[in-house]
Amino acid sequence: MKLKRTHNCGELRASDIGGEVVLAGWVQTRRDHGGIIFIDLRDRGGVTQIAFSEDASATAHKLAEDVRSEFVIAAKGKVFARPEGTVNPNLSTGEVEVYINELEVLNTSKTPPFPLEDDTDANEMLRLKYRYMDLRRPSIQRILMTRHAITKVVRRFLDDAGFIDIETPMLTKSTPEGARDYLVPSRVNMGKFYALPQSPQLFKQILMVAGFDKYYQITKCFRDEDLRADRQPEFTQIDLEMSFIDEEDIMGLMEKMLASIFKEVKGVELSLPLPRLPYSEAVGRYGVDKPDTRFALELVELSETVKSCGFQVFKGALEAGGIVKGLNAKGLATLSRKEIDELIELAKVYGAKGLAWMKVTDKGPESSITKFFTADDLAGIQSAMGGEAGDLLLFSADKPAVVNNTLGHLRLDIAKRLGLIDDTKFNFLWVTDFPQFEYNEDEGRWDAMHHPFTSPKPEDLPLLETEPGSVRARAYDIVLNGSEIGGGSIRIHRSDVQTRMFKALGINEEHARERFGFLLDALEFGAPPHGGLAFGLDRLTMIITGAQSIRDVIAFPKTQKATCLMTEAPSDVDKVQLRDLHIKLDVVVK
Ligand code: AMO
Ligand code: AMP
Repeated sequence: MKLKRTHNCGELRASDIGGEVVLAGWVQTRRDHGGIIFIDLRDRGGVTQIAFSEDASATAHKLAEDVRSEFVIAAKGKVFARPEGTVNPNLSTGEVEVYINELEVLNTSKTPPFPLEDDTDANEMLRLKYRYMDLRRPSIQRILMTRHAITKVVRRFLDDAGFIDIETPMLTKSTPEGARDYLVPSRVNMGKFYALPQSPQLFKQILMVAGFDKYYQITKCFRDEDLRADRQPEFTQIDLEMSFIDEEDIMGLMEKMLASIFKEVKGVELSLPLPRLPYSEAVGRYGVDKPDTRFALELVELSETVKSCGFQVFKGALEAGGIVKGLNAKGLATLSRKEIDELIELAKVYGAKGLAWMKVTDKGPESSITKFFTADDLAGIQSAMGGEAGDLLLFSADKPAVVNNTLGHLRLDIAKRLGLIDDTKFNFLWVTDFPQFEYNEDEGRWDAMHHPFTSPKPEDLPLLETEPGSVRARAYDIVLNGSEIGGGSIRIHRSDVQTRMFKALGINEEHARERFGFLLDALEFGAPPHGGLAFGLDRLTMIITGAQSIRDVIAFPKTQKATCLMTEAPSDVDKVQLRDLHIKLDVVVK
């Protein structure tokens, strides 16, 4: 490369007119207007229009005739004001153009597999296969630059608050966070495996035992779980831990950090303190533990109101110890039978057996099931739900978990239909007072709701063995617009309590020693009280940038099937490699 770049492609302004500059980048478009060839030259900084005329340089003009999309060029020339009427206000460099007197073609390019436009309708599979081309699109580049801006604020904020960035191992022992582990076979230790960390949880606790006091890390975590729009098998946490603190200290500091991020990256002032809701109230009012509070549409408890009605579905559910709740879909009495059937199908996706409904008219609620209710029952339902003519009342009757989950998800669907969600809002919510355990029906035992290292509330400690379902945890989640962007807890710092916790989770002593012996040991050597939190950086970036998919905020993401279409990982390996790892594949190939 002979020419030395003086500016990036987003830098030139009217004040540069008359100057001589060198730009380098990729050819976005090339337009041949007979005598003059225009090229939109693109790099990370932006786009500049450069022009080739025989007057400026016959040699450069000739060379430019053969230049095509995505060729890499360097070009030297003089900056001119664009002629009247051709100024482009949508471009930072829209006031100028550069007439080129020297062109260096640095590389050619095959025809791009899809047009590199911001609003591409190219198939995502194709975009992921040619990810380096996809990543040239300015919209994706902007997202990754925003991601960088976020981590920059985080690092500065935490550095200023006295945190130390310490790396923890990737080849390690299983850290349970509720997913399957990715395993790595050991060559040197035949038959043994490392696990990739689901989080740095145990190491950060041990760093507290070691006296580091305040730790942070922006690090990869690996979880082999079913993928969704906001889940990746490898993702990034902003992970931190502190000693000698309580819930208030962490939540207070973290909301200041969020405020810094939003102010510096988004120009949005958050009003602190952020709102809080206990878990039971979140689930009661919104059906889920990560409610989107940008709109109301709250669930209504109806068990008492309908307890003596004649509708078998409600009666049966109540008699079986369940509940009945309703959701008023304001103004949706206009839905057709087919649309209501779609809602019922959606309810079934979330585990409901059905979904009862009534349309409110001037004469009160109407539907095929109103015959099972007295006039008083119907008036009671309508009044409890604030039903007005034109509303559609939806009902779910089942175990509380099913009712809440169903209506909680329908609530979102209906808010979207009704256009209730204000995209410009950032609604944060701390969810607190989580239960320590949740019952795993399939396995017939209690699971940790957060993770097994979370401390129960001290006053609930005596219930650990007798009434695990009533034990509350010192855990907190941070929710943004209905997405769980982070979570953490105060930890157990005493070995005896940790041992009791493992027992309550059905992990026997031998098993606990084998898996977590190092932690139990460490807790016996002067572990300070400690706690922390981890944000999901990818999810936070998604919301800040408005990205629709988590794949758009990760440079090299995986597909729903956990594959990388560019490198074609995971892939077959040599027999020799397998032999070295003492692995014999025994897969039946269909
Ligand atoms: P948790 O499991 O809640 O807590 O994870 C913290 C945050 O990480 C994000 N997250 C994910 N993002 C993308 N893809 C995934 N598969 C994925 N899984 C989780 C979420 C979540 O809130 N060690 C604890 C933290 C602590 O207690 O300090 C932990 O990992 O935004
Ligand atoms: P069925 O008696 O099963 O025909 O149901 C009568 C109506 O109640 C139908 O509209 C069902 O969709 C609805 N329904 C069935 N099960 C439930 C349930 N668990 N909760 C609320 N509605 C239900």
